[in-house]
Parts: sequence; structure tokens; C-alpha cells
Amino acid sequence: MAEAILLVGGKGTRLRPLTVNTPKPMLEVAGVPFLSHQLARAKAAGISRIVFATAYKPEVFEEYFGDGSRFGLELVYVQEVEPLDTAGAIRNVADQLVSAPDEPVMIFNGDILSGVDLAALRAEHAARGADVTLHLTKVADPRAFGLVPTDAEGWVTSFREKPQRPEDIVTDQINAGCYVFRRDIIDGIPAGRRVSVERETFPGLLERGAKVLGVVEQSYWLDLGTPAAFARGSADLVLGAIGSPAVPVTTHPQFAEALVLDGAEVADDAQLGAGVTIGRDARIGAGAAVYGSVLGAGSVVEAGASVRDSIIGRGARIGAGTVLEGAVIGDGASVGAGNELLQGVRVSCDAVLPDSSVRFSHDPS
Ligand code: GTP
Repeated sequence: MAEAILLVGGKGTRLRPLTVNTPKPMLEVAGVPFLSHQLARAKAAGISRIVFATAYKPEVFEEYFGDGSRFGLELVYVQEVEPLDTAGAIRNVADQLVSAPDEPVMIFNGDILSGVDLAALRAEHAARGADVTLHLTKVADPRAFGLVPTDAEGWVTSFREKPQRPEDIVTDQINAGCYVFRRDIIDGIPAGRRVSVERETFPGLLERGAKVLGVVEQSYWLDLGTPAAFARGSADLVLGAIGSPAVPVTTHPQFAEALVLDGAEVADDAQLGAGVTIGRDARIGAGAAVYGSVLGAGSVVEAGASVRDSIIGRGARIGAGTVLEGAVIGDGASVGAGNELLQGVRVSCDAVLPDSSVRFSHDPS
């Protein structure tokens, strides 16, 4: 039986206020909680049992996914009393694993949208006799990531924290947040305290001479940790830049580049595109233009509003003629008419902005 651990206990601070009510892996991406895409891909790669390592808002996961039978998977949930960080969380689920000491266990960060070939990663891990295998990807600007240089045969030579200076950028290979661990390596992580996989476990394994393999694979890869990346990832799923069997069918096929969910009402002359998702029971008013964004269930975009590359929480309202670009609107917030919110602005859950109260550019009148 192929088994995996899913790390889903983070607080998702960079996505606030979206994560105030919902843990990051359960935020809707292309119409379903993000994890639905990950579970579907894991299942397609032959994984049959997944242990969730939860900490922040743990109950939300089991309420939605249950025992997994609806998804053709066996799902098990383990809750940390205090968040144990990534490797601490992996160790904390060890007694729920059924794999033998020398068998592989896959581990996924719960916020990575990736097209990596999971079966090939496991096969490489076995063929090379590795203790741990990491999926590595290459990015143009690696400054925000942990760097993982490898030798000519792919064995990892070191783990570098986020590089601060240009001379610290020794490679463009980064840790892509997907691993294969031999089961007994998991049992060897110290129990009952915070342990970071990147800062402690991986460097410690190298020091002890363990065989740590890096497999560079450059299929689609995106860390959904920031609002901009989150909107991008959702749009890429809707547009088919990365495939997922979990993307629902749109109710409005006349909008070729949009996903409109059940019960949503879209005015005939509204414009939708660039991979936008319109949530269940949402309403889009006359002449509104909504592109590349994620709109939560029951949200309302009134007439003539323009929304681009933004995330709108459940039940939030965007008033007539308001312009949003790269904005994050919390659940239940009400943004009055005639506002202009740009460049990463975040509106708290249930906040109320009166009409014509915020602009980035000068008033056109
Ligand atoms: P930020 O607060 O925005 O950095 O997000 P995050 O809390 O999700 O942290 P990060 O993106 O670094 O986490 C990577 C993965 O590990 C995510 O899937 C998290 O859910 C998970 N994770 C991080 N810390 C913990 C923890 O203490 N316990 C568990 N179970 N998972 C964690």
C-alpha cells in the first residue's frame, strides 16, 4: 500500500484575512478546497492512504473529507496540541503509519500546486536506494526559497536558507515541498518538540552521511502561499495550464475562460475571463468585468465594478463601479461603491468601507 503524509497545520499568515476562518489548504481554488486537487493527484499516482498532520483549525479537514471513501482514499487525521513545525508534524503522525521501516512514505506540503510525476519520484527513490528524496524545481528568482544544490549524480550537497546576498545564490534549485522518506527516517526525528525539516532534519541527515537525493523536475509548480500566487494558481487550473480531475464543470460555458459554480448569477453583459472563478450563489451585476480572480460563495460584484487578480471572500460585497486590482477582501466585508483598491490591499473580514472612501488615484470628477 502506498502511503503519504499531508502537512496542513500551518497558520497561513501570508494569506490573511482569508485564513482567519479557513485553513489555507481548505481555501477554494478553482471551485473546490485546494486539497481536493492534491488528493486527486495523489490517488492518480497510486497513493491509497493519507495521514493528515493538522494543527490550525483541525476539525475543518475531517468535516469535509471524512474517512476519504467518497474520494477513493483512506484518510486518517492527527492533531497537534501545539504546532510542531514541519518535521515535528511528520514525526507526530509516525504511529499512524502502516508502512514497514524500509518502505517509502510520500510527504506533501499542503499548499503546493504541482504537476510533478509522483510515481516517477517514488521509482527514482527506490532505484537509487535513497533515504530521502526531494522534488526540486528551478525558479528564476530563488531568493524567497530554500536552496538545494546537488552533485552531478543528484545527491544533495547542502541545504541553504533563503539567500540574503547575491553570492549566496549558489543554485537555482529549490525545495519544492514534496518528499519521499524511508519510513524509519521518520521514526528517527525527535518526538514531542518543534522540528523544521529544512533547518534541522535535512542538514542533520547530510551530517550523518544519509543518502539524500534531489530530483529536478520542472513541470508546473506554484507555492500558493501569497495572495498573488493563490489567484494565479486558481486561474491556471481553470485555464488548464495545470490539469486536475477535481475542477468542477462550469454552469456558464459561454464564458470560455471562467469557472462559474452552481447557483451563481451573471448579468448578460458582464465580462468574465483570465481563469476567474465565480463561487456558488455569487452575483455579478450588469457591465461588471471580472478577470483572473477568485470569488467566494455568495459574494456580490455590483454593476460596473472591475475586479482583476483579486480574491473576494465568502459573502463579501463589492459596490457599483468599484475597482479592485490585486486586492484581498475578507469574508463578509462590504466595499461600498466608487472605491479603488489596488496593489495588495487587504480588507478585514466583515469590514465596511463606505461609498467613495478609498482611492489610489485622484478622483476623476
Ligand atoms: P505562512 O504562515 O503564510 O508562512 O504559511 P504556513 O503556516 O502554511 O507555513 P509554510 O507555508 O511555511 O508551511 C509549509 C507547509 O507546512 C504548509 O502545508 C503548512 O500547512 C505546513 N505546516 C507549517 N507549520 C506546520 C506545523 O506546525 N504543523 C503542521 N502539521 N503543519 C505545518
